Amino acid sequence: MSALLDVSGLVVAFGDVPTVRGVSFAVEKGQTLAIVGESGSGKSLSSLAVLGLLPPQARVTAGDIRWEGQDLLALGDTEIRRLRGEQLAMIFQDPLSALNPSLTVGYQIAEMFRRRRGMRRRQARAQAIEAMTEVGIPDAGQRFGAYPHEFSGGMRQRVMIAIALALEPKLLIADEPTTALDVTVQAQVLRLLRRRQSEGLSMIIISHDLGVVARTAQSVVVMYAGQAVETGTVADVYPAPAHPYTVGLMAASPSARDGRREVLPIEGYPPDIATLPSGCVFHPRCPFARERCRVEEPALREVAPGRSSACHYAEEVLTSGAELDHAGA
Ligand SMILES: Nc1ncnc2c1ncn2[C@@H]1O[C@H](COP(=O)(O)OP(=O)(O)O)[C@@H](O)[C@H]1O
Ligand code: SF4
Ligand SMILES: [Mg+2]
Repeated sequence: MSALLDVSGLVVAFGDVPTVRGVSFAVEKGQTLAIVGESGSGKSLSSLAVLGLLPPQARVTAGDIRWEGQDLLALGDTEIRRLRGEQLAMIFQDPLSALNPSLTVGYQIAEMFRRRRGMRRRQARAQAIEAMTEVGIPDAGQRFGAYPHEFSGGMRQRVMIAIALALEPKLLIADEPTTALDVTVQAQVLRLLRRRQSEGLSMIIISHDLGVVARTAQSVVVMYAGQAVETGTVADVYPAPAHPYTVGLMAASPSARDGRREVLPIEGYPPDIATLPSGCVFHPRCPFARERCRVEEPALREVAPGRSSACHYAEEVLTSGAELDHAGA
């Protein structure tokens, strides 16, 4: 059986500069994939490419995107637009920018049902209220006529989820869905997504915080400077990462640390994509780096059944386990 979504060797370029540099991932039916990495690592561009929503200056210059075996890159505008919403949906970090401020929330949800399902006004309104209730918006009947600015951040994100799920898509791409929310609301939104997941929804959940996605995803792709540096199941990767960058992300994640130990940010900054370091692109920040790392680029390779790492010393990192301190102390 083929995957629901299969992305292989994806390259997204702005002009001559490849920004996403050969990323592969797959989502099986009913499964959730987490894409994690610091800001600027290419997480959003990778998923926007899937939806055919790249910014106008960006282009897919290599690779393959298959949806239920069908070549998505070969589809025309009309066909991809039909797929979006019907089968593939996306929610964004900032729900305020994705909602129309001058239309009521209820109208914006009902409009989906009218346009895409051909419903009459009254029926679309009833459907919208039901959809709002389902995502946990209290007094949906009364809030139907409220404007986006009258909702809290958490409630707006629920509205976005209601809109994204209105047409019962098979795959939901959630790009930093909880980053703008406080911790309590974050947990509520994640619980809501997990409930839909248990009803069969497949998801890609994107976050810069490894801990946030730990209980929601089954598999994970860790991205750095436009590439996948570690992939595997959450059950394998979280307890024992096989790439120093993943170790660093783990130490830097407030939710993964769970208040048990101090949060340690990774030293330094991600490189500018236009002027990447030689050898392993992570070497200037890597506490494990040796001479070889400065000259030889590590390939993403299988280091244990079902898991890969792009580190020359992955086996060592793996066995040093949780004791490893990325700060090198
Ligand atoms: N509209 C744009 N114009 C030029 N460069 C862009 C644009 N969007 C993204 N990029 C480049 O692509 C990189 C990856 O972006 P993105 O996928 O949004 O990262 P992430 O979602 O991981 O934070 C950015 O660091 C930036 O260099
Ligand atoms: S290859 Fe070297 S620099 Fe790159 S992550 Fe591994 S140890 Fe660090
Ligand atoms: Mg992003």
